Amino acid sequence: MGARRVLVTGCSSGIGLAVAVRLANDERRRFQVVATMRDLGKRGPLEEAAGDSLNKTLEIKELDACCEDSIKECVNSLSNRRVDVLVSNAGVGMIGPLECQSIATMKELFDTNFFGLVRLVKEVLPDMKRQQSGHIVVMSSVMGIQGLLFNDVYSASKFAVEGFCESLAVQALKFNIKTTLVEPGPVVTEFEKKVYEDAEKMDLSEADEETARIFWEIYLPYSKKVFLSLGQTPEEVAEQTHKVITAKEPPLRHQTNQLYMPMTALKHADPTGRLPLDTFYKMIFKHEGMFNATLGLLRMLRKK
Ligand SMILES: NC(=O)c1ccc[n+]([C@@H]2O[C@H](COP(=O)([O-])OP(=O)(O)OC[C@H]3O[C@@H](n4cnc5c(N)ncnc54)[C@H](OP(=O)(O)O)[C@@H]3O)[C@@H](O)[C@H]2O)c1
Repeated sequence: MGARRVLVTGCSSGIGLAVAVRLANDERRRFQVVATMRDLGKRGPLEEAAGDSLNKTLEIKELDACCEDSIKECVNSLSNRRVDVLVSNAGVGMIGPLECQSIATMKELFDTNFFGLVRLVKEVLPDMKRQQSGHIVVMSSVMGIQGLLFNDVYSASKFAVEGFCESLAVQALKFNIKTTLVEPGPVVTEFEKKVYEDAEKMDLSEADEETARIFWEIYLPYSKKVFLSLGQTPEEVAEQTHKVITAKEPPLRHQTNQLYMPMTALKHADPTGRLPLDTFYKMIFKHEGMFNATLGLLRMLRKK
């Protein structure tokens, strides 16, 4: 069997870049990677990371997930339009009190995180159905399983992604097309930097004093501690994405961070939703000591 063609979106930095490079360097050269980004002016870091694989097992193309024409042009430029594996990774973040976020900004986020995926799938699915093979891999998040304070809209976009894929997966399977939601916890990338920078510039005047205080004095420091204690590297997520793509029977869901799993497990442990709600509430508002001790313990486990 020849190399499988993998199209990855959002490869200018972070997880997308790492996934493209990992697949291009597959020990058994099983992949031909089309690494895409919306602004080719940002190709430098990918070219550098790709090294010898550049223009051999990895080529770089333009693709804006928010533009149907751009997606079509990219797929049309591939021989036979063949895409064996789609890695829909492009995404943006947003944190903060709802009162301070405009509907226009929320729509922009959904346009990338949710409709970006939908546009891509609409473009490649008919060909995959004709081929009777394919794998749709989507960079979701643990926030697609369990919502988190001040991540209301971002989390909603990932829930949308999860619902879309879960629904589509059954029909896709009939055409021998696999679907996988990769669900990272915190990953240290530009993403985290961008959301904190935006948060620091955020105009909190629309929020009441207590909400603004919770965001500044509790959420932001807690969130930074979580990234410091549990954050994975993009390369770790790429390694696990490689495993999922090369698996004989890829799972529908794959969480990349074992240390985060106790949090997501709470959701499945209690269908009424009370257990995760109470736990998060207590951890954030009542027991700072417990929160810090838990993170300390997880940090230790991680080192081991
Ligand atoms: N970092 C985390 O903690 C974390 C955790 C769970 C899931 N994720 C998910 O992982 C994915 C990758 O995030 P990351 O952490 O690697 O962040 P990142 O370093 O900021 O990378 C995001 C990528 O998406 C691209 N992008 C944004 N809008 C696009 C569009 N319209 N068309 C094409 N590309 C676009 C960005 O391109 P530009 O450079 O042009 O902006 C960038 O290449 C996202 O879907 C994110 O939701 C991240």
